[in-house]
Amino acid sequence: MLAEELFALFKRRGVLWPSAEIYGGAQGLYDYGPSGLALKRKVEEAWVGWFLGLSSDYYLIDPAELLPEAVVRASGHLENFADLEVVCEKCHTASRADALLEEHGVTNAEGLRVEEVSALLAEKAIPCPRCGERALSVPRPFNLMFSVEFGAVGRERAYLRPETAQGSYLSFARMWEVGRKQLPLGLAVVGKAFRNEIAPRQVLFRMREFTQAELQIFFDPESFSVPLEKVKDLSLPVLRAEARARGETEATGTAPSDLVAAGLPAFYVYHLAQEFRFFTRVLRYPADRLRFLEKNEKERAFYNRIHFDLEGDLPSLGGFRELGALHYRGDYDLGRHSQGSGTDLSVTTATGRHVLPHVLELTFGVDRNVWALGDLHLSREGPGTPGEEEARTVWKLPAHLAPTPVAVLPLMRKEHGPTAEALALSFREAGIPATVGLTASIGKRYAREDELGTPFCLTVDATTLADGTVTVRDRDTRKQERRPMEGLPEHLRPAFFLPRPWKTA
Ligand code: GLY
Repeated sequence: MLAEELFALFKRRGVLWPSAEIYGGAQGLYDYGPSGLALKRKVEEAWVGWFLGLSSDYYLIDPAELLPEAVVRASGHLENFADLEVVCEKCHTASRADALLEEHGVTNAEGLRVEEVSALLAEKAIPCPRCGERALSVPRPFNLMFSVEFGAVGRERAYLRPETAQGSYLSFARMWEVGRKQLPLGLAVVGKAFRNEIAPRQVLFRMREFTQAELQIFFDPESFSVPLEKVKDLSLPVLRAEARARGETEATGTAPSDLVAAGLPAFYVYHLAQEFRFFTRVLRYPADRLRFLEKNEKERAFYNRIHFDLEGDLPSLGGFRELGALHYRGDYDLGRHSQGSGTDLSVTTATGRHVLPHVLELTFGVDRNVWALGDLHLSREGPGTPGEEEARTVWKLPAHLAPTPVAVLPLMRKEHGPTAEALALSFREAGIPATVGLTASIGKRYAREDELGTPFCLTVDATTLADGTVTVRDRDTRKQERRPMEGLPEHLRPAFFLPRPWKTA
């Protein structure tokens, strides 16, 4: 599906739309509607359930979104969190230099130094993408953080957090006291991050305000043991940095033990595998549409030692795009914040070791995955069963993520409406959200629910009033079966259970 088609569907069905739409939209900002928000919250809940399920020493916290300047100075973001910008001298459009180079055939432009970028822009005589004039300025670093005046006098500055991770580092000392004083200790945050992108694009993939889910695992590198045998049978699609340097573009299915043998730490490989399991079992992305792409030294963020992006192959955006990542940040973060704050963040573990904890970061783009769930699970299908001859667009979301798990559809509003309302209420009382669809013909209502990804439609008709049964229509097969209303919430409930990491099936 094309990006425009997917976005049109999202707008039509109340998933999301451009923010400030009545003013022509605000670049890089989006508003979620009811079905989009329901989906987003389920994705967040699923992420929290999965990754906090890895250990009883992992916690969800909710730190502040504003960071005092001292924090971003210490973290390195004030100095380093920049993209190279070029501005057209004629029409004043700002563009990201690496994106322009990639559009003109330069591969891996992200990691180039400013002099290299400058030389390539000149050599290729790249014009302004907006007005076409060859009038681009020299590239200059543009810091991506939003700054705000802080306090009434306005002399202090604060920054909207560019990553949720910082709140976990700031909370580490307190959580060490609150928790069991043992490593590994995990602190997860799900919330907004803010980046003043030079040129927001690709809908939810480069936003100025977006939702991250990030888990920071603080650990002692001498003793972080992981149950690698639990993931030993997986084949991880991996494209290593050295293979990329040789010009390879295809990922190779690799056993976790082979990655360890090739030199990656076992704790790193185990968490790659858990990310892969999450993407395939919870989000149900097809394994052959995923890959782990290793970033080389130039491409990695300034805080990373090892960095693989988990990418999904998204037809709407023309190929692989980052959906999550795994960062080994070493002792960079607690080291910098120890220096910046004057608070020693090293700890003494139960075994008596004095250590400055290292950080393994699992990061996940919530909005990007809402988009990917649309891209990878929406499909067009030909005519179905008798009575449903129309071709349809169907969003085959996993039932445990569907915004509306159940829609109750009375065949006739007046005669069957009250029974439908009562049935929907019985689902809501059982903790399963259910709506009642009243408008249009039954075929149109099915079509609407198919586009919204509703896994079950229950139709109330004359037979219902006679014998207390309804038809249960399965979204994916379009098959219908009659079942008693009595006990139906319990019968359907298992379809909505969230997968958990400790289950092997
Ligand atoms: N915390 C890592 C990132 O924002 O990419």
